[in-house]
Amino acid sequence: MDKCHCAQIAFETIVETAKSEGIDYREIMERVNAGNTCTACKSYLIEYCESKLELQTT
Ligand code: FES
Repeated sequence: MDKCHCAQIAFETIVETAKSEGIDYREIMERVNAGNTCTACKSYLIEYCESKLELQTT
């Protein structure tokens, strides 16, 4: 899985937006409502963003 199908947004887009705006990817998730509808993508999305942004995956 590489996008949130409910919100129609690629994980990559969330990471790029977070980077370019210098804010937490979770704020972008909230803004675009990613991971909040069926929630199937949520764990993949978090894992993807944390590895791309080199955060700890706890
Ligand atoms: S696929 Fe992301 S909330 Fe449904």
